[in-house]
Amino acid sequence: MYIAILGRQPSLGMAELEHLYGAQNTRWFSDQSATVKSDTLSIERLGGTQKAGRVVIELPASDWHRVSQKIVQAYVQAWSGAEGKITLGISVYGFNIDGREVQKTGIILKQKLKKNNVSLRLIPNSDAVLNTATAHHNKLGLSNNKVELLVVKGGNGNIIVAESTGAQNITALARRDQERPKRDAFVGMLPPKLAQMMINMTTKVDTPSIRILDPFCGTGVILQEAALMNHAVYGTDLSEKMVKYSQQNLEWLADTHHLTIDATVHQGDAMDTKWQAPIDAIACESYLGQPFSAPPSPAKLDEVRKNCNFIISTFLKNIGSQIESGTPLCVAVPAWKSVNNDFTHLPFIRQIETLGFERYEFKNIDQDELLYFREDQIVARELLVLVKK
Ligand SMILES: C[S@@+](CC[C@H](N)C(=O)[O-])C[C@H]1O[C@@H](n2cnc3c(N)ncnc32)[C@H](O)[C@@H]1O
Repeated sequence: MYIAILGRQPSLGMAELEHLYGAQNTRWFSDQSATVKSDTLSIERLGGTQKAGRVVIELPASDWHRVSQKIVQAYVQAWSGAEGKITLGISVYGFNIDGREVQKTGIILKQKLKKNNVSLRLIPNSDAVLNTATAHHNKLGLSNNKVELLVVKGGNGNIIVAESTGAQNITALARRDQERPKRDAFVGMLPPKLAQMMINMTTKVDTPSIRILDPFCGTGVILQEAALMNHAVYGTDLSEKMVKYSQQNLEWLADTHHLTIDATVHQGDAMDTKWQAPIDAIACESYLGQPFSAPPSPAKLDEVRKNCNFIISTFLKNIGSQIESGTPLCVAVPAWKSVNNDFTHLPFIRQIETLGFERYEFKNIDQDELLYFREDQIVARELLVLVKK
């Protein structure tokens, strides 16, 4: 079993895991973490998980002192006789303790191991949790002698100790986002992590290589992430400029990552394009309307909302007539935050059934929670996870 430490918006990370691994294998453990029953879990493909670890100890509810003793006991035994230096980081979630308390556990373990001639390099904790950057830069979890213990208190008080199998590769994610040759602030900057989550909400962990369509491909972030997961990619966009941007970004990805990418990219209006088969899944960030830096007036909001509603519902009717029943879709659509912090949604969502789609039934989350936004953003992305009826 694995534990996943979820990202800034845990419901999104949970939805990604549930879709990939199945509802029967995924459970909330705390409001920031989930357990996943699986033999393997590859963090490289997950956008919504910051760290993942193989569960090694499960304990009933107890205080940090007892947990700390158990950890020291277990690892003095496990590492006595170990060869070479061990690097250790400890991250503790859900206990009300500071970095110094966590550090103490490491120091006690270090002293005990020293007596057995085992040398330990301890990563200092300024907080109870080592941040993803520290874990990633120290390569914790990526080899046998670089270990990060993830100690997590569950919602029911029970405790899991896991050995990390890696932290999100923030360097690679930032590179894919910032170093690609073509970016466009107006079209928007879909974070690669969100693109990964969206693709994962259309696939299962054992899905073979399939062909994924993004009919609003823009600069091609979804195409890039799907190609990195070994899928064939198919992108279309209304704008010729965006078609070129996607092509150039995919060429850059193929060159820099030594990939052979099976890509088709051409111009097309999503409302009436006839796409070339096969289309196995659809992941797209649809037209989001204009960006706003402050909540728009009711009249302006009404105008933009009607326009987006028309484009996206017409697109769904069009694509619905071209794909097989059971085809999965993850479509990001706009939702607008008001001054009271509630959201105005697109009207067609309520009638999605009449357009020939069902919403995917998640067990661990409510689909209404699938809103991606930063505090300062007016236009959120609402993820619709759908299946063609
Ligand atoms: C929010 S952006 C998507 C950005 C994209 N995820 C990326 O990686 O850059 C929406 C895109 O939809 C395109 N678009 C707008 N209306 C369209 C339509 N009717 N059919 C196809 N594309 C459309 C725009 O040109 C724009 O590139």
